[in-house]
Amino acid sequence: MAKNVMITGTGRSYALGYNMVLRYLENGDNVIATVRKESDELEKLKSVYGEKLLVVTMDIGSTESVNSAMEMVQKHFDHIDILINNAVTVSEDCDKEFFDTNLDYIAHTVDVTGVGPLRVIKAFYPLLIQGHNMSLVINITSEAGSISKCYRTNLIDYGMAKAALNMGTMNLVNVFKDDERINIFCVHPGWIRTDGKPDNQAPLSAYDAAEILRKLFDEKRYDKTGPRFITNEGEEYPF
Ligand SMILES: NC(=O)c1ccc[n+]([C@@H]2O[C@H](COP(=O)([O-])OP(=O)(O)OC[C@H]3O[C@@H](n4cnc5c(N)ncnc54)[C@H](OP(=O)(O)O)[C@@H]3O)[C@@H](O)[C@H]2O)c1
Repeated sequence: MAKNVMITGTGRSYALGYNMVLRYLENGDNVIATVRKESDELEKLKSVYGEKLLVVTMDIGSTESVNSAMEMVQKHFDHIDILINNAVTVSEDCDKEFFDTNLDYIAHTVDVTGVGPLRVIKAFYPLLIQGHNMSLVINITSEAGSISKCYRTNLIDYGMAKAALNMGTMNLVNVFKDDERINIFCVHPGWIRTDGKPDNQAPLSAYDAAEILRKLFDEKRYDKTGPRFITNEGEEYPF
């Protein structure tokens, strides 16, 4: 049966969110694709998939925007089977070393990348518990958010934001522990060519990565007891 799948941060055709939208549509599912601003690429997909694709504007840094998006979505869908929190932001100093970084940029990155997915889960919870089957929430995190495996001296805002997201995920694992209506993971999606640049050395295209993840999420949907921070191969990754 077709699933209702919601994915955040989907407006760029070379990036992961858009390619997950495409993979789920190709699989026959219904997709709610959220964007911060209008996307011509998604509009083109809409002309192919029609009612199967709902494009919704949502800024995950704004509780008001997330709540308005929820109002819009519930006019079209009575439940959500899978929510994929994919959207991310980093500051312009992300690649810089500690002493060159403006530390005042970090809070915004943490607010959007770390807290944003929790805003979305909180607002959309009523739709996530309405399906016939257990729903699945995936927070797309990164190995860069692992505290125990940290080796970098840059990516400070990104690493802190993903570590915050990982902690938020574990908090929700506890919140949903006895709730058979909802399941949650954080997933490192692999190293993927998501910047649209031809010299990107990452091994996975966004299109291939999206299909690996789609299949993984199907496998893990009802697993409430295995590791909560996993790779795109389903292996445990240390927090
Ligand atoms: N690429 C990799 O190798 C890799 C590795 C590990 C983890 N990841 C994770 O995989 C996910 C996808 O990565 P990506 O490189 O494809 O990301 P991306 O190209 O940067 O795309 C992320 C999307 O998030 C949106 N966004 C930014 N701020 C937002 C906000 N306030 N509200 C709503 N949406 C917002 C952006 O919208 P606009 O288009 O409007 O800017 C963009 O479309 C991310 O969570 C990333 O951390 C990627």
